[in-house]
Amino acid sequence: MSRKLRSQSWFGGQGKNAFIHRSWMKNGGLPDDVFDGRPVIGICNTFSELTPCNAHFRGLAEHIKAGVLEAGGLPLEFPVFSCGESNLRPTAMLFRNLASMDVEEAIRGNPIDGVVLMAGCDKTTPSLLMGAASCDLPTILISGGPMLNGKFHGRDIGSGTDVFRFSDEVRAGTMSLDEFTAAERAMSRSPGHCMTMGTASTMASLSESLGVTLPGNAAFPAVDANRARLARLTGRRAVAMVNDDLRLSQILTRTAFANSIRMNGAIGGSTNAVIHLIAIAGRIGVDLTLEDWDRLGRDIPTIVNLMPSGQYLMEDFCYAGGIPAVMKEMADHLDLDALTVTGRSLGENIADAVNENPDVIRPRDRALVAHGGIAVLGGNLAPDGAVLKPSAATPELLQHHGKAVVFSSIEDFRARIDDPDLDVDKDSILVLQNCGPKGYPGMAEVGNMPLPQKLLKQGVRDMVRISDARMSGTAFGTVVLHTAPEAAAGGPLALVRDGDMITLDVAGRRLHLDVDDAELDARRVEWEPPPPAMNGGYQSLYVEHVLQADRGADLDFLVGCRGAAVPRESH
Ligand code: FES
Repeated sequence: MSRKLRSQSWFGGQGKNAFIHRSWMKNGGLPDDVFDGRPVIGICNTFSELTPCNAHFRGLAEHIKAGVLEAGGLPLEFPVFSCGESNLRPTAMLFRNLASMDVEEAIRGNPIDGVVLMAGCDKTTPSLLMGAASCDLPTILISGGPMLNGKFHGRDIGSGTDVFRFSDEVRAGTMSLDEFTAAERAMSRSPGHCMTMGTASTMASLSESLGVTLPGNAAFPAVDANRARLARLTGRRAVAMVNDDLRLSQILTRTAFANSIRMNGAIGGSTNAVIHLIAIAGRIGVDLTLEDWDRLGRDIPTIVNLMPSGQYLMEDFCYAGGIPAVMKEMADHLDLDALTVTGRSLGENIADAVNENPDVIRPRDRALVAHGGIAVLGGNLAPDGAVLKPSAATPELLQHHGKAVVFSSIEDFRARIDDPDLDVDKDSILVLQNCGPKGYPGMAEVGNMPLPQKLLKQGVRDMVRISDARMSGTAFGTVVLHTAPEAAAGGPLALVRDGDMITLDVAGRRLHLDVDDAELDARRVEWEPPPPAMNGGYQSLYVEHVLQADRGADLDFLVGCRGAAVPRESH
């Protein structure tokens, strides 16, 4: 390779600055010859003990480093902000954009020629891809892998999905608190991220279909030796990508995003993928819209039988063949010429894929859901769109006309939902306001509101729910999410009042508030935005600059690719 690598702008030459850059690096024992112009691979690690899904990443990074060394590169690991879904408040999503800024600036500001992104928990995948896309160096991603299947009383239980189920059972009085605690121990049995087809597994799967990971990335459990092997191969491949100058922008094309929208339908993936893919596309300069999601995903059958849409878990998905086997089943819906980090096409990558279990990865004629894509709704209640996941909904509720029961905040919801006097029945529509990007802030996963206890006791297990929030990818129900503009930005959702009639027409892609325009105008005059949750700090910056859900909820000033030109010298 005759091309001068960007790391040589730090480590090459004989002057004072080269002395500084090299000498301090040598304090860990690096010999002179590692600065000879070989590719420097930054290993971007989201390890954190506060992100339990990524807490095994120190060990995984060692395998990546071994691979980089084997291929003749110099691995240098660096930490970035780790968005852990299970602990971070008010919601990990508030910090996705912050983490992406950290990633972008860490890559651009350092002597790095190529990057390995170590992602796992929900937001760590999009935050790393967003930051890396704004730099556009040779980049490859590896996921930390899912946990082993949960096991409880002889049956498999899934992260998130069964928490919601058990919680409803406790509230309905059909499960004891002792049993609930026993399930808590039984659910998370090994390192790794949620093993349902929640947001983490969805984003790992879509990273694979985007072409930014090696084949097989999504499904190997975190503790499977194949995960360590994949890490080693990922390290090797990062070096080759630098040598070939294979950049993210050659892989993250419109074709790659179109493939991944279709794959999201096939796997029954999370609604969160809608926001994340739009945000990643925005960073690399691809114009992706909600309309693309509806159009490209509309006739895609869901063939992956995993919770929350189906029955199995990621470990089963791995043994069935994982994403390569799904892509093979879906081949005629995909553009298999798309280039990937292997330097080959998607089609070449999956040539040998085999579906080992047709109950986990269904043949198309036995699809779990015939039309599994994300439905994008319009109408006067969601002028800039809202989304619903039909595969996780109750089919009979997809056409529904009901009376609104309105909650102005999540606190209001929690205070009143179990009130025996609440005027609600199974046909009511629960409406939650002020939980969007600006309103929460950060668009928390509270859109799958728990049902009123009195209805649970009557056996009701699903109702239509509408909000400007998101929901966990592990959740299920007839839940309209991401309503835009959000209530806190003055969207029509803010104008809904108790007793208003709402029509949900998923087939017609319509969400309609049956209140006339004059009345809505009068309510708009009376409306006042909610007070900010915090004055100053990152939260204020976020609220001021966050885009609405239909535009990926990125910060307006972060959209776009700013490249990785070598910044001016620091000394
Ligand atoms: Fe980390 Fe689910 S909480 S992936």
